[in-house]
Amino acid sequence: MTGEMSGIFEEFYASAEAGGARPPWDYGAPRPQLVEWAETRDLAGSGREALVVGCGYGADAEFLALLGFRTTGFDFAPTAIAAARRTYPDSEVDYLVADVLDLPRAWQGRFDLVVESLTVQSMPPEQHSVAAQSIAALVAPAGTLLVLATTRDEGAEVEGPPWPLSRTELDAFAYRGLALRRVERIQDGAWWRAELTRGVGDSRT
Ligand SMILES: C[S@@+](CC[C@H](N)C(=O)[O-])C[C@H]1O[C@@H](n2cnc3c(N)ncnc32)[C@H](O)[C@@H]1O
Repeated sequence: MTGEMSGIFEEFYASAEAGGARPPWDYGAPRPQLVEWAETRDLAGSGREALVVGCGYGADAEFLALLGFRTTGFDFAPTAIAAARRTYPDSEVDYLVADVLDLPRAWQGRFDLVVESLTVQSMPPEQHSVAAQSIAALVAPAGTLLVLATTRDEGAEVEGPPWPLSRTELDAFAYRGLALRRVERIQDGAWWRAELTRGVGDSRT
C-alpha cells in the first residue's frame, strides 16, 4: 500500500510541476496552526534538533530553521523533496526522501521537536497506529511532538484519502513514554492540534 500511496503523491507533485494545480494541501507558507503554536510559546530552537514529517515543499521546515532549530524534513515523494531543495537553495534544512513506515533506526529518540501535519491522515486507516508509533519514537528525552490533523468524529466513516483522525487515533501517538499534554480542537472543530512530550529522563523509544 505504501508503494501505491507514494505513487499517488508523486503524481500530485509531478502534475503540479508540469504546470497543473498546486497540491490541494499546499498552503504555500508555514501552516498558521504551527506558527500560532510557536508564537504563543516564543519558541526558539537554540540549536536543538527538529524534524518535519511529510514535509512536502518545506515551508514548515524552513520556518523551524529560522527559529534556530537544526532541521530535517522528509517526505516519501522524491519530486517534493527535489522541489524543496530547489526552492530554498541556501537552506540549512536537511531534506531527505524517507518513508514514515521505514525510518532510519538512528533517528529514534533523536529530535527535540517533531512536527507532524496531515501525513498520518494521508495514509490508509489500517496504517494510522503504526505510523503514529513510528513518529512518536523519534522524540528525544524532554522533546515535544506537535500533531496537526483534521478531525473525524468517533465511528464516522470517511472515504479517503484523506482519512482524518478520530480522538482515539490521536491517542496512538502517546507511545512508549510520550504523554499527551494538550489536545485542542481548533478552527470550529475542524482541526486537532495536539502536543505530546517525553519526560526528561525517559529514553524509551
Ligand atoms: C497532505 S500532505 C501534507 C504536507 C505537509 N505536511 C502539510 O501540512 O502541508 C501529506 C504529505 O505526506 C507525504 N507522505 C504521505 N505518506 C507518507 C509516508 N508514508 N512517508 C513519508 N511521507 C509521506 C506526502 O507525500 C505529502 O507530502
